[in-house]
Amino acid sequence: MHPENWHFIDKNGSFRLHDPHLSNYLYFPLVNEAGMMSVVTPTLHGGSQTGHNTFFSEPVSIESLHNARSARNLWVHIEGYGAWSLTGNSARQLTNRFSETERVGIEAGLLWHKLIRENAQTNLKAEIISFVPTSDDQVELMQVTLTNNGTNSIELTPTAAIPIFGRSADNLRDHRHVTSLLHRTTCTRHGVLVQPTLSFDERGHLPNTTTYALLGVDSAQNPPAGFFPALEDFIGEGGTLDHPKVIIQNEAPQAVDGDKVDGYEALGGLRFPDVTLRPGESRSWVIVSAILEEGQAPQASTNLRGSTSAEANSSSNERLLRRKSTLLAESLVDKYGSPEQFDHWLELTKDYWQHKLDTLRVETGDSRFDGWMRWVAIQPTLRRLYGNSFMPYHDYGRGGRGWRDLWQDILSLLLMEATDLDEMLLGNFAGIRMDGSNATIIGSQPGEFKADRNNIPRVWMDHGAWPLLTVKLYIDHSGDLNFLLREQPYFKDQFTHWTKSVDKNWTPEAGTQLRKQDGDVYQGTVLEHLLVQHLTAFFNVGDNNNLRLEDADWNDGMDMAHEKGESVAFTALYASNLKELAELISKLNEENVSLAVELLPLLDSLEKPPSQPSPERGRGFLSPPRGEKPDRAEGGDVDYANPAAKRAHLATYFESVQENVSGERAEISLKDLASDLEAKAAHLYAHLRKNEWVQDDDGRGWFNGYYDNEGQMLEGSKQDKTRMTLTGQVFQLMGGVATDEQSKQMVESIRHYLFDESVGGYRLNTDFGKVMFNLGRAFGFAYGHKENGAMFSHMAVMYANALYQRGYVAEGFEALDTIYRQSVDFEKSRMFPGIPEYFSQRGRGMYPYLTGSASWYLLTLVTEVFGVHGDLGDLVLMPKLRREQFDDDGRATLHTLFAGRRLRVCYRNPEKLDAGEYMVENVLINGQNITYTKADGGVKIPRINLAQLSDDMAHCLEVVLSAKE
Ligand code: G1P
Repeated sequence: MHPENWHFIDKNGSFRLHDPHLSNYLYFPLVNEAGMMSVVTPTLHGGSQTGHNTFFSEPVSIESLHNARSARNLWVHIEGYGAWSLTGNSARQLTNRFSETERVGIEAGLLWHKLIRENAQTNLKAEIISFVPTSDDQVELMQVTLTNNGTNSIELTPTAAIPIFGRSADNLRDHRHVTSLLHRTTCTRHGVLVQPTLSFDERGHLPNTTTYALLGVDSAQNPPAGFFPALEDFIGEGGTLDHPKVIIQNEAPQAVDGDKVDGYEALGGLRFPDVTLRPGESRSWVIVSAILEEGQAPQASTNLRGSTSAEANSSSNERLLRRKSTLLAESLVDKYGSPEQFDHWLELTKDYWQHKLDTLRVETGDSRFDGWMRWVAIQPTLRRLYGNSFMPYHDYGRGGRGWRDLWQDILSLLLMEATDLDEMLLGNFAGIRMDGSNATIIGSQPGEFKADRNNIPRVWMDHGAWPLLTVKLYIDHSGDLNFLLREQPYFKDQFTHWTKSVDKNWTPEAGTQLRKQDGDVYQGTVLEHLLVQHLTAFFNVGDNNNLRLEDADWNDGMDMAHEKGESVAFTALYASNLKELAELISKLNEENVSLAVELLPLLDSLEKPPSQPSPERGRGFLSPPRGEKPDRAEGGDVDYANPAAKRAHLATYFESVQENVSGERAEISLKDLASDLEAKAAHLYAHLRKNEWVQDDDGRGWFNGYYDNEGQMLEGSKQDKTRMTLTGQVFQLMGGVATDEQSKQMVESIRHYLFDESVGGYRLNTDFGKVMFNLGRAFGFAYGHKENGAMFSHMAVMYANALYQRGYVAEGFEALDTIYRQSVDFEKSRMFPGIPEYFSQRGRGMYPYLTGSASWYLLTLVTEVFGVHGDLGDLVLMPKLRREQFDDDGRATLHTLFAGRRLRVCYRNPEKLDAGEYMVENVLINGQNITYTKADGGVKIPRINLAQLSDDMAHCLEVVLSAKE
């Protein structure tokens, strides 16, 4: 049977899906800024947690969603029928799943989830709304409403049964039983509180300060009538969570308010008073799952009388914590525990997310696309909140955000959020080491950096390239070129030489900021940080003179070629970045810039300042021809054609900054600095064009992207076998390394070898046909999956971006469009709206929600497709919309933020022209004329014109398109 597709039920992205429980692997995020991260499935499996060490429910991987019996469950025992699970999680309902008489559906929106289940035999209809409120509390709320749709009264006994894991994810495999002995479980007026005595995980044995609570109240404000606090007692001997003895046999509750049970796996088992539902009548309950962490204060309304300091002193910590938690739990019931309060918070939460996403919205000729974009637009925020963990496919990591993801997610935040992004950007620069490498895990607090999630030092060689892309977008959007001159410390830990050596003198007590010889913290400009990243990368080459692959590049699966591997793909990105940086610097309104003297040797084409030994002027790009040995590694004339010379030069720099820096600075002319960078870029461009171009027997050309651990070129065509990577092409196109002629050939070759509509578009690589121990784990994956040849959205979208940038609008559109079409084709993708990390070989959408492709999709849509982007603070409008992207009236609209103003950019294309056929004819703001300049078919509006507009309303930019002259 073909599943019915989901469909949107409003313009805000809310959707409805019938029979969601007949598709596996579906899940939905519920989250807030306070740190509660939940996931629900159509059977309310999933779970919630606030971090790696504070899991409310048992940690789940993707297969647990159908394997585990542990779920949020709500039961009624019905006179004359027996037990019925409102979430479908009973053995009886599972047995009858394919022939059942139950109608199931979900409705979901930003960010709420409603499960609807109707049972024809009992005539009961259950609706369960779940959400995590946008409050300061780490809570997940559920409202359960039961309606009698029959003609007879129904007597029933309701019970909520939600297992409480209450500890670190480590304890799933490591001492699961022993850690249950730490549980102290108390029944209070409204629920069950689990308060482990210790936490017992990778951090050692620490006093626990977190309490897990499952609370409930019915719509008449009745507390539960009793409790089932111990899981083993609830299921009974021989029972299971989907066939629990106490429910099947409708037994009385096992505990009441004040009872305790210590040292057992816990259950939030709440037995509510019996109810009689007359025909047409409804009854509801509110259930609160809470993670109460030390430091959270009870609400002011809570009665704190009786908690004297004398009593506190005489109590054990455990008793005090228990008392505090009980008060806190009661305050949560006060705050959320009535239908009115539940509705109030639900509306606030819906408004919050909608409002947040209204800053980036499209209205095109395809309303399904417009709705889908709402979900793509929320994804970067989801990744900011979840990191790359805490969702069922993302069953790895311990929280925190990865370096590469951090910078790319900010790309879309720059388009969507008005506030303080410069501070956030600046803060992240404190993660860069003076050797050009960086901390790889970033905590949620400013300045929280770690070498790696497992403290294993690794270097991803692409990391140094991303910050500049984000800074460039920021500067173009804001005009804040002086951001480059703001200062920030460097990250310091024991690792030096791109983690290949350690500073034995460093101790954690010394702190994680680089110091000067005099002991003070050293600060350098943002520009200096960017230079450190790019200059060290430039000299860090393999034997084929491309940048070393190190432990991987963007493709995490290219991780087995750290000796001789090279990433030609990212050599291209660094090359274009060097060029970009040179251009940015030359726009700075300064003569000179001050840099750490240690950095000067890496600017080897500069004349040395007088305080340095005085070498002859360096030659950089014009260095001696290939093969000629340089006579010294330091001092200005590195032979760029000689990889060993480059490496030696870098080694000297690494030595000079391995412990601290002198603190001395030199004034460098910006003009000279720019020309050094240009020379380096020119060298790389020429090298790539000349040495890395490959062809097949039919003369199709493209770029080689990698060298393996034997130093062998990866790509090319041999004996009917063609090896091509998409990554190897994207940055050559994007940064202009590929000439126009090369681009033309590449676009054809890429389509020929990598395009496959059945998996959503451009695959990441051709089938290399073997496990490649000399390249990376990705090639151990079956072909067509994840980093081995799937349509991997992130790179495919970056390819689309590159295509638009190079003027291949039809091809770029197709790349974006096939991903969208595959995503919304539920029968194939089996996913809720949004963009997945990749599609499996069978076309299923994998790893939804947390993927960098969302940011790039938004960026490409706004800056390329709608052509709305900044140019040093001015606004450029240069649309590349295809004819079919306009609606029937010839309109296409983008809601976005620019210069702190909410703009509605409405393109009017009355003649229904296609991209390439039109140009911007005229622009009006709020119906008024405005000054602008025309160029290349688009317009540029000076920032000043926008800055004059009020910032408390949206402004309409009416942009009329007409045929090109
Ligand atoms: C994921 C990672 C990203 C990495 C990519 C390829 O992609 O988050 O950092 O570059 O795999 O290995 P994403 O899911 O973000 O698209």
